[in-house]
Amino acid sequence: MGTVAAHGLRKSFDKVQALDGVTLDVPDGSFFVVLGPSGAGKTTTLRAIAGLEKLDAGSVHLDGRDATGDTPAARDLAMVFQNYALYPRRTAYENIASPLRARRCSSSEIAAAVDRMSSLLHIERLLQRRPAQLSGGEMQRVALARALVRSPRAFLMDEPLTNLDLKLRVEMRTELTRIHRSLGATFLYVTNDQVEALSMADQVAVLKEGKVQQVGTPTEVYERPANRWVAGFVGSPPISLLACRAEGDRLVGAEGWTLPRPRWTTAEDGRALLLGLRAEDLSVEQRGDAALPGELYGLEPLGDRTVVDVRVGTEILKVKARPTVTGTQGERLQVTVDLDRAHLFDAGTGLSLSRAGR
Ligand SMILES: Nc1ncnc2c1ncn2[C@@H]1O[C@H](COP(=O)(O)OP(=O)(O)OP(=O)(O)O)[C@@H](O)[C@H]1O
Ligand SMILES: [Mg+2]
Repeated sequence: MGTVAAHGLRKSFDKVQALDGVTLDVPDGSFFVVLGPSGAGKTTTLRAIAGLEKLDAGSVHLDGRDATGDTPAARDLAMVFQNYALYPRRTAYENIASPLRARRCSSSEIAAAVDRMSSLLHIERLLQRRPAQLSGGEMQRVALARALVRSPRAFLMDEPLTNLDLKLRVEMRTELTRIHRSLGATFLYVTNDQVEALSMADQVAVLKEGKVQQVGTPTEVYERPANRWVAGFVGSPPISLLACRAEGDRLVGAEGWTLPRPRWTTAEDGRALLLGLRAEDLSVEQRGDAALPGELYGLEPLGDRTVVDVRVGTEILKVKARPTVTGTQGERLQVTVDLDRAHLFDAGTGLSLSRAGR
């Protein structure tokens, strides 16, 4: 078993409210990701769950038992840090074996565990080398093997891929998902990288300034963001947000444009709104009934696609287009909007007004 339930965690450092009532329910065997920008409280949350940080309020239950007052050792959680140093004079094998030696496991148990972990991480051929004889990515794999060789109640991972180059990060994302599946263990993983979160997680909790903004599957968080902040933080290029209000059967932009009012919105007339449009739900290449007039502001070729920046009044819309798209700056354009996929937020509270379950 490996359920982790953190309820109402509060922690302040001097004047900083690092955790402001964080609640997370991590199911046994899940890959649960806490996603948030720098300073959101991710590391503090993990440290509090591990028992390394004394809480001002809140509780931590492990496998249904109150562990709030337990020592870190009694909690039986493994913490994997962003920077984990290997013992330089020991071979990769001895590095991986060290947590088991500290627990006085037998040599045959150790050999079996190191074998299994090194095959999962594809480092069998590196076991007799010392850290100085390994590349950065190989060292990272050895360090990860050393962290994963134990069988704790759950693994708490603090941005373990941050120090890798982009190619290796992408590779390790796939590897970690595979390792998670084969270990069947609970992973509580924190990151500021939304691609990592969306690609690996079963469940994502989005954290901002010590408060959980939303918990859901990657699809739910992307497709049905609870508020404008989550909508803006998750997704690349970022969602475009246009000020508008509902008037009868139209949405009227602060810049004078109008669009048909989406059938699904509950917003009453006159309320100040933000219309959220993702780049892939906009087009400068197709014609549709719902369109915004604008002018070409810039082109950002990204290889497999080009992001077209279109100025609508004083606001810039980011539109996904084919890589072959061309145009000149200032050229007049129509941006076709897929209103079924658009989002509406209250401009004051920022909360989503999109139809529930959409
Ligand atoms: N020991 C400390 N003393 C004072 N302030 C702290 C301490 N630890 C964290 N903080 C503050 O608490 C807030 C949350 O910090 P935390 O390290 O949890 O953020 P994080 O989400 O892990 O950020 P990052 O992505 O940069 O690692 C920050 O404002 C930070 O400055
Ligand atoms: Mg941190």
